[in-house]
Amino acid sequence: MIRSALMNVMTAAAIKAGRGLKRDFGEVENLQVSIKGPGDFVSVADKKSEKILFEELSKARPGYGFVMEESGTFEGSDKTHTWYIDPLDGTTNFLHGLPIFAISIGLAREGQIVAGLVYNPISEDMFIAEKGQGAFLNNRRLRVAQRRELADTLIGCGTPHLGKAKEHPKFKAELASVMARVGNIRRLGAAALDLGYVASGSFDGFWERGLQPWDIAAGILIIREAGGFVTDAEGGGDMLAKGSICAGNETIQSQLLGLIQKS
Ligand code: IPD
Ligand code: CA
Ligand code: CA
Ligand code: CA
Repeated sequence: MIRSALMNVMTAAAIKAGRGLKRDFGEVENLQVSIKGPGDFVSVADKKSEKILFEELSKARPGYGFVMEESGTFEGSDKTHTWYIDPLDGTTNFLHGLPIFAISIGLAREGQIVAGLVYNPISEDMFIAEKGQGAFLNNRRLRVAQRRELADTLIGCGTPHLGKAKEHPKFKAELASVMARVGNIRRLGAAALDLGYVASGSFDGFWERGLQPWDIAAGILIIREAGGFVTDAEGGGDMLAKGSICAGNETIQSQLLGLIQKS
């Protein structure tokens, strides 16, 4: 696999920020943490990682815009390119000592996602994709799982944290209806990684609501480049705006979507 100059920029930024996250994970009990809302936390590790990503990507691609979880939106002088940055996806896991978290970097050109990267600095799993070039986990080309029967599948999902539970009244019904049909369900706690695991075929499908563009921009492209299907929870293509996602291979995605919509 030959990496493009763009992907080299993205991987170098992620590895640098990931080094900091790994260090901070080693002394997580001493990190300063603030509360954004009930069940919603942010630490200095999130902010440091975001600063590194912002600096490295700005240096390599001056003028590109940014949509970042912790520092918000920066309009660049180049109106055609926007980075979507989650500097630490899975903060709750991170703060609880669970090594299931990632950096997520998506790049949109004229509104279309053209490159995506999801990197777990602990496992060193790096999922990458560029539009039209396929998806890779480290150097292995990815293909979504090929199972066709819901009863054989392992499906990932996201559970709303305390402050978001009221905004997602349908979640319990959705969970019950999916649980009644699929082999089993997992909730890992890092949406960007969940999407990587759909691309790699570990998960047969995934759905979640209440997400933000930085959680999913990279993962959507990685799944599509691995041959998977992705829609929002209404079956449309508005995942970033709606913050909902349903993914899998063609068959499982459409069955999962059907279950969610009937709930
Ligand atoms: C969260 C994780 C989690 C998802 C939440 C996200 P964060 O991101 O992706 O899996 O359920 O909706 O906000 O806050 O840890 O970057
Ligand atoms: Ca967060
Ligand atoms: Ca996130
Ligand atoms: Ca985050």
